[in-house]
Amino acid sequence: MALPKEMLDYVAGMVEKALGIQYSHENHYQLEKRMTEVATTMGLRNAEELFHILRDGKNPKALSAILDASTNNETSFFRDMGVFDAFSSELLANPDFAGNKQDYVRIWSAASSTGQEAYSLAICLRHWQLTRPNRNYEILVTDYSERVLKQAKDGKYSDLEVHRGLTEDQLKKYFEKNPADPHVWLVRPELKRNMNFRQVNLLEDWTGLGAFHVIFCRNVLIYQSVENKKRVISRLYNSLQPGGYLVLGAAETLIGLAENFEIRRLGRAVYYQKVAKP
Ligand SMILES: C[S@@+](CC[C@H](N)C(=O)[O-])C[C@H]1O[C@@H](n2cnc3c(N)ncnc32)[C@H](O)[C@@H]1O
Repeated sequence: MALPKEMLDYVAGMVEKALGIQYSHENHYQLEKRMTEVATTMGLRNAEELFHILRDGKNPKALSAILDASTNNETSFFRDMGVFDAFSSELLANPDFAGNKQDYVRIWSAASSTGQEAYSLAICLRHWQLTRPNRNYEILVTDYSERVLKQAKDGKYSDLEVHRGLTEDQLKKYFEKNPADPHVWLVRPELKRNMNFRQVNLLEDWTGLGAFHVIFCRNVLIYQSVENKKRVISRLYNSLQPGGYLVLGAAETLIGLAENFEIRRLGRAVYYQKVAKP
């Protein structure tokens, strides 16, 4: 049974307020589907009962369950390969990148979903370190969803997931089969070294994370309003080192959203470089 439009509008408003994710009227059927799934998991009769619980505002678990279910977590290893080629061959290979040789190279995979983006970056950085044993790095891995963040932290992937983007060599070198289940792969501890995992809502305050040389914020702002995009981008700007880079998804652009970045075409990828504010 279809939920009344007012109920779906109400829940869509809650999701947008908390996460910025916009559900257009055409996509209300998806929201209703997600509400039905959450209702089933919570042992409720149907989506309408969940709506009443959400509207009463007395059950924070119901709210976090519907927010989590509203996120789209699609990702894969080395998604949009040109971005990773550019990271290795244009940035890491450049002796002037990340200036002071004593410093850690600091990377932030914001909205990392289940972690494939962050581990792809870690593979690039491990490779880079082979010829620069004195250099070190740190990757901050964040997402709003605790569910996907847990998988990222556990570094646990199905056969299907590892075969989306990893070469056989990378699989052998950086992953091992779970002794308890031969269809599950675990990230080897060496690759996890230097990686920190943390829940961050990009719409809320994230002070205290420090400054990064590159921030990957891919395929998340696409779901946000123009005002939210501008707000988040201006705060990402403040979280970058001078001359640091911001990377967006292949279908996303900074054009019309921020003026204090230069577009850099690095191989097949577009990176946005922080320039001083005018
Ligand atoms: C499509 S995935 C992108 C994953 C990866 N960056 C990539 O490009 O493959 C989008 C992720 O953004 C997260 N997300 C959505 N809204 C968010 C918010 N307000 N703050 C932080 N993460 C958010 C979702 O939980 C989801 O895992």
